[in-house]
Amino acid sequence: MSSIFLSPPVQKINNQIAANAGVELNILRLDLMHPEINGNKWFKLKYNLLAAKEKNYSTILTFGGAYSNHIFATAAAGNAFGFHTIGVIRGEETLPLNPTLSFAVKKGMKLVYCDRTTYRKKHTKELQTELKQRFGEIFIIPEGGCNLNGVRGCTEIMEDLDYFDTICLACGTGTTLAGIALSLSSQQRVVGFPVLKGGEFLVEEIKNLTQNYLISGLPAPVKNPAPWQLISDYHFGGYAKITQELITFCHKFKQEHNIPLDYVYTGKMFYGVMELLKKGFFQPSKILLIHTGGLQGNLSTEDAKIKILD
Ligand SMILES: Cc1ncc(COP(=O)(O)O)c(C=O)c1O
Repeated sequence: MSSIFLSPPVQKINNQIAANAGVELNILRLDLMHPEINGNKWFKLKYNLLAAKEKNYSTILTFGGAYSNHIFATAAAGNAFGFHTIGVIRGEETLPLNPTLSFAVKKGMKLVYCDRTTYRKKHTKELQTELKQRFGEIFIIPEGGCNLNGVRGCTEIMEDLDYFDTICLACGTGTTLAGIALSLSSQQRVVGFPVLKGGEFLVEEIKNLTQNYLISGLPAPVKNPAPWQLISDYHFGGYAKITQELITFCHKFKQEHNIPLDYVYTGKMFYGVMELLKKGFFQPSKILLIHTGGLQGNLSTEDAKIKILD
């Protein structure tokens, strides 16, 4: 199933701020794995799709916002691997469709809109039973691919990358961080940057994910998660909130290093890392920043000029 993907390159970047801090800065370019199913998305979808196939489901249903990278990738993966897909989208339909949703429709995804109150019940048996009654035999993947199958895929992100002592990544649900922490040695550590305001709540979520994973019997590369922590100061006002400062940072980073960043996830994490380097937060170390993709979202963000705060 993974033969259509390229091995993501690790790219060393020459950056004066990192050099001043005695840090070797590298980027794992998961964004380059596949034009449509890239970043952390493939890792979170892989074992979900395999489970769906094993159980003979032909339709995948999942949830997401109107700009969701997960909706985008699920539509593309469903199309590539022969599944029908249904996307339950938070909020009302807005026409014309934004680039994310029009891509999903082009890939054959059926979109169903759901008011915000009902959408909040997406994890409940009640809503899931209703969806099954409406759509028949469906394999449900939670929003953001946040389940143990998602964690399992993310334990594979760091395969053969034990050279690095510090791994940094952006966090939404914490699934990717959980999988990575379950694949590293106790000498390595993970620093996660929640992109939501009040991201401290993710500590409990990630603890639950790692503990549930370890007792699930699914293959785990290590017996205990590697040390990890969250830095919650770089959310820029909240999920998908974008400031001019953030946009300028991403543009400058692209000019200097020829690496595009998205404004919702990787841009905030890279910004945070640069600030922490200036403050001496990282010991001289070999850092790997994970580029988790999300670049499709920039089209919609720029298109809608949404939520630019200042
Ligand atoms: C581009 C990108 N980076 C990072 C994340 C955060 O991943 P997680 O939800 O596993 O914390 C997401 C959300 O899935 C994402 O779309």
